[in-house]
Amino acid sequence: MQKNKQTVILGIETSCDETSAAVMRGDELLSNIISSQIEIHRRFGGVVPEIASRNHLTAILPVIDEALGAAGITRGDIDAVAVTYGAGLVGALLVGVSAAKALAYALGVPLYAVNHIEAHIAANYISSPELKPPFLAVVASGGHTGIARVDGLNEFRMIASTTDDAIGEAFDKVARALGLPYPGGPEIDKLARTGAPDIEFVSHKRVGNISYSGLKTAVVNYMHKLEQRGETPNKADICASFQKTAVDMLVDTAIAAVEQTGIRTLCLAGGVAANSYLRDKLKAEGERRGAVVYYPPMSLCTDNAAMICARARGMIAEGVAAAKLDLNAVSYLKL
Ligand code: KG4
Ligand code: ZN
Repeated sequence: MQKNKQTVILGIETSCDETSAAVMRGDELLSNIISSQIEIHRRFGGVVPEIASRNHLTAILPVIDEALGAAGITRGDIDAVAVTYGAGLVGALLVGVSAAKALAYALGVPLYAVNHIEAHIAANYISSPELKPPFLAVVASGGHTGIARVDGLNEFRMIASTTDDAIGEAFDKVARALGLPYPGGPEIDKLARTGAPDIEFVSHKRVGNISYSGLKTAVVNYMHKLEQRGETPNKADICASFQKTAVDMLVDTAIAAVEQTGIRTLCLAGGVAANSYLRDKLKAEGERRGAVVYYPPMSLCTDNAAMICARARGMIAEGVAAAKLDLNAVSYLKL
């Protein structure tokens, strides 16, 4: 695989409910097409895996063609294909993996197997080309939460992780308990802006301990108690208080990691990186300690294939081996 700057990479992402394809040439993002299934899954209150796979199947080829068209290239211009092979819903992942393998085989180009969480981190390279390892990544997604240490383009290590639920999962579960539509994260973000963050859901806070299961239960219990007393819960106050507690736990851990490691560059990664309070809080707390804080634009926070291209660029740059054509999808995959 030639390592010149102008390598054209087709990225494919189908790990959950977004079918996405993107094209990068060198460090330039030429297209990033995202076909979201949110409307389809909303009536079920969450993603239904079987329905997600079926919809990826019908969307994948049109989405790839649209990405090539928007980039102004044809299949023959592709130098490498990159695809998310985990973590995610196995049936959903398999659609992207199968399409990527078929294309790589037919075009005679290498196939790169991308870890979804590493890709969320690599999304920062697109919007902030000046970002260079070592840095700390605050991972805040629907399936993973914690602090990763990034020591090289291909060196990722979680140094703190949630002991139970992921932060996005907690946002979605609390939103559901409040009767807000799926996905709940953006809804809580919106409602929280009009609420007061003064309800104390958890009394014992220990820096470095990221745990969301107890917080979620505390919110649900709080609502039940109000209902038993015949009182109407103030949803905005609940959202603001939950969001503050959930985010502060992660930001406090990130700041502790800055102090422990002496690494003063931070970035945000994952769908919850779109959360306005998390973006503001991490930036303020990081900068107070002399750290530089990066986060991707909203369009690169939730699942997208541009980040898959960005991750593959790092693999190609350092000669990481391409995947074999018997690549399989992996539902549980660590960083
Ligand atoms: O990273 P992602 O797209 O999926 C995984 O890789 O897991 O993250 C999806 C999560 C969902 O839980 C969604 O509710 C949350 O990101 N999310 C948000 C916001 N936008 C998306 N959570 C809080 N505030 C937001 N603005
Ligand atoms: Zn994701």
